[in-house]
Parts: sequence; C-alpha cells; structure tokens
Amino acid sequence: MRTPLTELLGCEHPVIQTAMGWVADAKLVSASSAAGGFGFLAGAVMTPAEVEAGIQAIKSHTSKPFGVNFHMYAPGAAEIVDICIRHQVRAVSYSRSPAGTLIDKLKSAGIVCIPTVGAMKHAVKAVELGADAVVVQGSEGGGHTGKVASSILLPQVVAALDVPVVAAGGYRDGRGLVAALSIGAAGIAMGTRFLMTQESPVPGATKAEYVDAAAEQIIISDKLDGLPQRMIYNKCLASLEQASSPKMLLLAIKNGLAFTKLTGGSLLGMLSSAWQMRKANQMSLGQTMMAANAPMMIQEAMVNGHPESGILPSGQVAGIIKDLPAVAELVDSIAREADETIARLGQLGR
Ligand SMILES: Cc1cc2nc3c(=O)[nH]c(=O)nc-3n(C[C@H](O)[C@H](O)[C@H](O)COP(=O)(O)O)c2cc1C
Repeated sequence: MRTPLTELLGCEHPVIQTAMGWVADAKLVSASSAAGGFGFLAGAVMTPAEVEAGIQAIKSHTSKPFGVNFHMYAPGAAEIVDICIRHQVRAVSYSRSPAGTLIDKLKSAGIVCIPTVGAMKHAVKAVELGADAVVVQGSEGGGHTGKVASSILLPQVVAALDVPVVAAGGYRDGRGLVAALSIGAAGIAMGTRFLMTQESPVPGATKAEYVDAAAEQIIISDKLDGLPQRMIYNKCLASLEQASSPKMLLLAIKNGLAFTKLTGGSLLGMLSSAWQMRKANQMSLGQTMMAANAPMMIQEAMVNGHPESGILPSGQVAGIIKDLPAVAELVDSIAREADETIARLGQLGR
C-alpha cells in the first residue's frame, strides 16, 4: 500500500512502530522495519553512546529504513542529532519542547522530522517549526497523552495541515488502518500493539499484565510526573494516587539520583531540566521531582519484570489485545486485513 507516508519514510506499509522507553530497542525496531513497517528506536531514555550502539545494531540486522526518537530538551540532544546525521538515519521523532535549530540541522541533512503531538495547537506549531509529517495521538494512546480522542482529533488535524498526518492512539489492526486512511491520514502509528509482540523485550510477567488488562482499567493520571499519562491502574499507581506530598518528594529525590547515573547526566542537569519542565508546565516542585522519579518506576515493570511494584504505560487498546504475535506476523496480518477491508467496503451498496 502506497501513501504519502510510505513515500516519505521509504517503507512498504504505512505502519509506524513508535518509540517506547525501554521497549523500542534495537531488536524490536529491526523486526518492525524488516517486516515492512517503520520502527523508531526509543532514544529518549538512552545516552548518546547507547543511541549510536542501537543504530549500529539495527543496521547489522536490516538494511530497511528506521528512525530515532529523543527529547530535544535533553542534555545529549545535540549529540544525538550529530549521530543521526552521521549514520544517515531516515527519520527522527520528538514531542515536547521541539528546538528549531536542531530541526533545521536535521532537515538540511535530509532527515525526515516527524514529531508526535496530542493537541491541535501543537500540530500547527510542529509544522511551523518544520515538521515533514505529524503523528497525532488521541487520548486513547499510551504514555503521555492528550485530552481529545482520535475520532475527534484526527479529522481536525487532517483538515488543518498540509503535511502527511499519521493516526496514533488506539490502533491495532488493518481495519483501524483503513479507518484512519478514510479520514485522511497517511498511515497509523502504534505503540502498545508492538509492545505486545514476541520481539518486544518486556519481561513475560509484565506482558501478561497487558494481556489481562481490561480497557476500563487503563486510565489517565497525572500523578506519575505531573503530566497526563495513560497507564494500567495497578497497586503501584493506586499508591501514587494516594501518597502524601512529603513521601512522594523523598522517593522522587532518591530515584532521581539513580536515574542521572543511568543516563550519564549530572544532578545539576537533571535539576535544570526539572526546573525548565516546571516553568513550561506550571507544575508544583513536588510534581516536578516526581517526574525525575518516574523512569525508575517504569523500569521496575518494563525492565526488571516486577509489574506489581512498577508502572505500566499503556494505550487503552491493550484492553482488546489478547495475543503476542511475532512482529512479521502482525505487520502481515495488518496489511492483509487492510486489503480485505477495502475490498469489503468496495462491495457496499452494490
Ligand atoms: C510503554 C510505553 C512507553 C512509551 N514511551 C515513549 C517514549 O519514550 N517517547 C515517546 O515519544 N512516546 C512514548 N510512548 C508513546 C508511544 O510512542 C505512542 O505514541 C503511543 O503508544 C500510541 O498509542 P497506542 O499505545 O494506543 O498505540 C510510550 C508508550 C508506551 C505504551
């Protein structure tokens, strides 16, 4: 299937595997791109050296194009841009605080800039800053997410922009792809569906929680880092929702220190990012410090395999996903179902 998205990214199917911290590693990205989709490496939780090693690992597995996701406000952002240019990565994705200078540099090196946005005004701003295409995530989507559902946000953004728009938030199959195309999208982007595959590195005990989760149990809360985030409501999230401010602050400082070790940043750097975040998002200091704590709690479930004591970011779509296919099987089935759906619709009213 050819759409403006497959043209832009050089992939076979208009299906993006989005970046997910500690989930979208080199193995998952290689599998997604090799299957004819387009994978994004989750560089936002990596040091620049780890991003480079990830790019090299992907290239050793597949010659198909792929992308890198990172935070433009992070201390290593400029270095990651240089790495992406040096390795001629096909595309980059980013979300909060896009930096015009970095976008200009990437674009002049021929790298496609495709940010994810969760609101109409951010979509318009992203294009003003140079985005070649935009992934628009409805509130059903996993991780940080907006307030407006895909069914409302997607047509609104499609009508307003002149660049290809990719639908995200709540997609899992070929019928969803056709539905998004019918609204004017150029393809779909999925996180949770790719998290729930064989190649995803998430430990089995944690994947089982995703399989078991009901749609009603996958809620939006701002208690993790002060920003609305969709997660599976478990014991850990329940305790956060009920924690007193002093307890939350202590835990945040302890885990924040550990996170600076993990990412190679400095405590000062972390505090300055936290301060900028606080200013940009008008959060309280307690909430801001909690933002530094969040990665540790996510890792507890996604890396250490302790879902009951960690946080599980998830799209609501996990509530209707009950299998863990191989990535190639998944991408093939989406392409096949999209063709069947288009053929079925072609028969309507005849
Ligand atoms: C476990 C998890 C981790 C995520 N981490 C990131 C991230 O590091 N960077 C990012 O831009 N988006 C992140 N997201 C959002 C996804 O990239 C994607 O936009 C979202 O999952 C789409 O909605 P869906 O889950 O309904 O497919 C994450 C989502 C999940 C479920």
